Amino acid sequence: MRVEEQKLTANATTAGGTVIALVPAAGRGIRLEAGMPKAFVELAGKPMLVRAVEGLLAAGCVDQVVVIVPADLVAAAAALLPATVQVVVGGAERTDSVRCGLQAAGDADYVLVHDAARALTPPGLIQRVVAELRSGHRAVIPGLAVVDTVKAVDASGMVVGTPDRATLRAVQTPQGFDAEVLRRAYRGESGATDDAALVELIGEQVFVVAGDEMAFKITRPIDLALAEALLA
Ligand code: C5P
Repeated sequence: MRVEEQKLTANATTAGGTVIALVPAAGRGIRLEAGMPKAFVELAGKPMLVRAVEGLLAAGCVDQVVVIVPADLVAAAAALLPATVQVVVGGAERTDSVRCGLQAAGDADYVLVHDAARALTPPGLIQRVVAELRSGHRAVIPGLAVVDTVKAVDASGMVVGTPDRATLRAVQTPQGFDAEVLRRAYRGESGATDDAALVELIGEQVFVVAGDEMAFKITRPIDLALAEALLA
């Protein structure tokens, strides 16, 4: 894209545009060992899903929230959430659930894809992602520097490489996209572990903004214990 075209795109997006947030919460959360779908597990008396949605609404830059849950939990989710939040049925994999949410996204200009499991995500992080989208980036993801050295290993457990840690980022959600870009990415392959990977596959550039340690994903029992301790 030429510089003049880039400026035009940036101006068009700065002029406004609606933001919809999709919250996939249709996972079974087996790794959490809580005996119920992860998004419905309570954190200091409030389900993770409710906390994640409250964070999005508190950011003040999201026009609509769509929550994606297992078919048998639609009524339960709707009862927990404000009436303005739409609740739809998800699919077998996370990408299937996001695809279900996208169908309900209407003609929004920007789409944020969050995880119910990142229940403590601060509103400031959500605002950073939306601000970069509005300034013209078509795909924006939060990321943190990696503290561990990361190894690539083969199937037999032998190390096959050590990527330079300074070039690595552990990425979080919400990931933000120009709606047209995300829809195009979702026409292709699925099965990726994040939405940005699908956008990378169609050749679009993805911009990383500073993540936040509070946006960690609550996946294992130790994550739940940490989240409870932080709220105590
Ligand atoms: O399993 P994982 O921790 O990667 O899930 C991330 C998020 O995606 C969770 O909020 C989970 O509920 C959601 N998910 C989903 N549909 C699936 C699997 C996961 O909405 N089929």
